[in-house]
Amino acid sequence: MGKEMNKSELEELKQKALSDFAKYVNPQKARTLKNAGLSIIEGKREGAAVWDVTGEKYIDCITSAGSFNVGRRNPEIVNALKNALDEYDLGVFLLCSKPKADLAKKLAEITPGDLQYTMYGSGGGEANDFAIKLSRGFSMKTEVISTIKAYHGHTGFSLAAIGRDEYKKPFFPMVPGYTQVAYNDLKAMEEAVTEDTAAIIIEPVQGEGGIYPATDEYMKGLRKLCDDTETLLIFDEIQTGFGRTGKFFSCEHSGVVPDIMTIAKSMGGALYPISATIYREELNDFIVTHPFTHLSTFGGSDLGCIVSLAVIDYLIENKIPEHADKMGKRFQKGYDELLKKYPELFKEVRRKGLMMGLQYTNDSIGPRMSYQLALNGVMAIYTGNEPSVMRLMPTLTIEPDEVDFVIEALDKSMAEIMKQGGIEEY
Ligand SMILES: Cc1ncc(COP(=O)(O)O)c(C=O)c1O
Repeated sequence: MGKEMNKSELEELKQKALSDFAKYVNPQKARTLKNAGLSIIEGKREGAAVWDVTGEKYIDCITSAGSFNVGRRNPEIVNALKNALDEYDLGVFLLCSKPKADLAKKLAEITPGDLQYTMYGSGGGEANDFAIKLSRGFSMKTEVISTIKAYHGHTGFSLAAIGRDEYKKPFFPMVPGYTQVAYNDLKAMEEAVTEDTAAIIIEPVQGEGGIYPATDEYMKGLRKLCDDTETLLIFDEIQTGFGRTGKFFSCEHSGVVPDIMTIAKSMGGALYPISATIYREELNDFIVTHPFTHLSTFGGSDLGCIVSLAVIDYLIENKIPEHADKMGKRFQKGYDELLKKYPELFKEVRRKGLMMGLQYTNDSIGPRMSYQLALNGVMAIYTGNEPSVMRLMPTLTIEPDEVDFVIEALDKSMAEIMKQGGIEEY
């Protein structure tokens, strides 16, 4: 991109893209990003890093909330897509196809327990929409319970399951029948379930909510509760799946198998949008009687399926979940030092593998840290539902020296904020 341009031409290109974005896409988003030091126009992308078009390098710890687990423009995935383009296009969505069948078979093999059938989509919200539709259609019950601060996407059935009213209020009334209860609180969930409850939906680690891993007892308790009450258990593994937490799927840590699992984001290898809802065989009774109940023109396209198969092979062959676990532990050592050094700013870390949340002592620190980190070569942002928490989700291919670079950048950024007067400043 812009290879023959000199520095000032590249700067001009960048400013033009930023101002056109503000003028034609979303001015408030452009302002918010500017305030967080993230007026970045991505140019080169490689591995764990991205370069602004003007040449500034950043370690990408945003990764569209865990969408780039295999790394930016991973050569093996890029090749798989390039080769597929010699032969394939999207494919007719109504027809059966080999890539669709191959990927669904692979998903049945790698997902835990007896999850077997796949319904494809093109994004995470769509995958959750279908999970909820399936649970209602199959059970003939209507109620859905999710958790406070949960994030499941901005489409209809998923939006109603989000645990934050700010996203929903302008569009009230929502799809009826939803309740939210506190996360990791089994008693609250037990009290909320009624004979009309079709499904419970949770993230095995709450992402936008501020990086809160579910305890094993909670996961096991939910399974038992669902079994006892004939309620379907849905795990939204859209952020947590594909190796992010140190296992291929996060629910493997507790050994709990859901009835329905949703995946998206990293499934597309940072190159091609695709999502899936995978469910137990018995739920297929509903699909048999309603075979065209969920149609998605771009869902599970041939190209998307081929990319996704390459992603799965790459993650398994290169033992990427294990690598994520190791790199997560290396990060933790750095955090432990920083927690001792900056108690006024930095309160705790919540982490599962490379899904990491830095809890600051105050809401204003999230945006200020984003700003300082960008100056120190790291792209990072606070979580959507919790501004006092910075989410660090680098690519799972991150190398030890890059981990150390991020820790050093955190150290320099916190030192700078202390120099500016710490939390007193705001
Ligand atoms: C846990 C979770 N579920 C669902 C979604 C929605 O996915 P999409 O943006 O692809 O619709 C997201 C996106 O951030 C997510 O983190």
